[in-house]
Amino acid sequence: MNFKRKILCIGAGYVGGPTMAMIALKCPQYRVTVVDINEQRIREWQSDNLPIYEPGLLPVVKEALNRNLFFSTEIDRNIKEADIIFVSVNTPTKSFGQGAGMAADLQYWEKTARQILANSDTDKIVVEKSTLPIRTARAMERILNSNDRGIRFEVLSNPEFLAEGTAIKDLEAPDRVLIGSRETEPGIRARKELVDIYANWVPHERIIESNVWSAELSKLTANAFLAQRVSSINSLSALCEKTEADINEVAYAIGTDSRIGNKFLKPSVGFGGSCFKKDILNLVYICRSYGLIEVADYWESVVKINEWQEKRFVQNILVNMFNTIAGKKIAVLGFAFKADTGDTRESPAIYVARGLVEERANVVISDPKAIINAKKELFDINACVTYEEDPYRAAEGSHAIAILTEWAVYKTLDYKRIYDSMEKPAFIFDGRNLLDHKKLYEIGFNVFSIGKGPLKHI
Ligand code: NAD
Ligand code: UGA
Repeated sequence: MNFKRKILCIGAGYVGGPTMAMIALKCPQYRVTVVDINEQRIREWQSDNLPIYEPGLLPVVKEALNRNLFFSTEIDRNIKEADIIFVSVNTPTKSFGQGAGMAADLQYWEKTARQILANSDTDKIVVEKSTLPIRTARAMERILNSNDRGIRFEVLSNPEFLAEGTAIKDLEAPDRVLIGSRETEPGIRARKELVDIYANWVPHERIIESNVWSAELSKLTANAFLAQRVSSINSLSALCEKTEADINEVAYAIGTDSRIGNKFLKPSVGFGGSCFKKDILNLVYICRSYGLIEVADYWESVVKINEWQEKRFVQNILVNMFNTIAGKKIAVLGFAFKADTGDTRESPAIYVARGLVEERANVVISDPKAIINAKKELFDINACVTYEEDPYRAAEGSHAIAILTEWAVYKTLDYKRIYDSMEKPAFIFDGRNLLDHKKLYEIGFNVFSIGKGPLKHI
């Protein structure tokens, strides 16, 4: 078949895989290839056992696979053939040298730019899909346009806003698609090519066009604002615990104000995920590097409150279980950073599990989708942790349960049966305010939640 254009995506991860599958599904006239250096990942994308768990993803991939969606490890050949190249490689926090622990590590990004340059013999549009520091497009342009072969590269910024667990819904009906370019004639022409792709299924009024720097900065800003809301509500959950106010009632009351809105006001043990912390620290680093110390400090506090919230959760367990949990069995229900994903990157459960092990508790971890990743996260303390997929077996003989992910299945468990199988007094620490606390108390549990007074028999 003759395709209108050949699209390539470099990086077949949580973003590259689902976004390209959606583009291929909605745009059969384009050939879409996704490449990665990780051979196993590529094999899994070609199977029924996808490398990531994401509700609704498998049917989307299956419909387009081998029709106009292809996964491959042949990066150089595919670069050569592509007209439009999305770059969706990982951009983790730098762990070494200047900016360690804050700045974005752009080594995978730059390697990709050089690989594109080395393998191109025609003009191409290169699209930043990864989340990047503002002004990265300029570095990309400089590398790419350093060639003396007369090949022109137009660099666009098209940040991704999908959330894990709802990626397919978010991609199918996005609040907006943002496309930034240089405001030059070739820049605007390239932007138009990308608009045409999304316009196959996204209404025009939801496709926002901007200059390239605004697009880059909007992505960091969106994540910073979202995380800030969680830290704001979590900071006040601590005040509620001291004052008999109920954080759920407060969140509801303020969320009905249409200027505030009711989303992202769920108190929790803390926000996790691969991006919030990384992107905010990146923003903080950029602000500091421009001498904007007050701005940097302001955003850094969002991360600090989050770390404090995780710490507070472990301290609450320790203090309320008579200041010792050594030798006590604690069942952790949920290890993923949120429900409906197997992703455990920066999950608050990592900090909590480590804190409990430090206090010498016997930690049992249960999760419907994240046990394999949990074992990787806790590789160095696996001798002190056991894993049990069945929540009833995980809770059997335990002194306490800690709910760390809001999996729907945890709402429907038989807590009377669980209570009967536990050591007494039995404790439950609900890090997601997921359960019916009054009912648990009536069963006999001592119940501790986020931002509400405890319900105790002792
Ligand atoms: P990921 O780690 O799941 O995937 C990145 C992939 O890139 C990996 O499979 C890796 O092997 C591959 N890769 C790295 N270097 C490569 C190279 N030189 N050539 C080919 N492949 C290479 O990461 P992700 O979660 O998909 O995130 C990718 C980017 O998207 C990040 O910048 C992230 O901030 C951003 N983002 C992520 C999400 C999310 O929900 N995970 C949402 C929006 C934006
Ligand atoms: C987030 C953003 O929502 C996406 O728009 C963005 O594209 C993505 O980061 C990214 O750049 O990677 P994600 O991390 O997948 O998506 O998940 P969220 O739904 O944002 O949740 C993040 C964390 O905040 C989770 O741990 C979640 O449990 C927590 N959270 C969220 C709360 O504690 N309370 C809330 O009210 C909302």
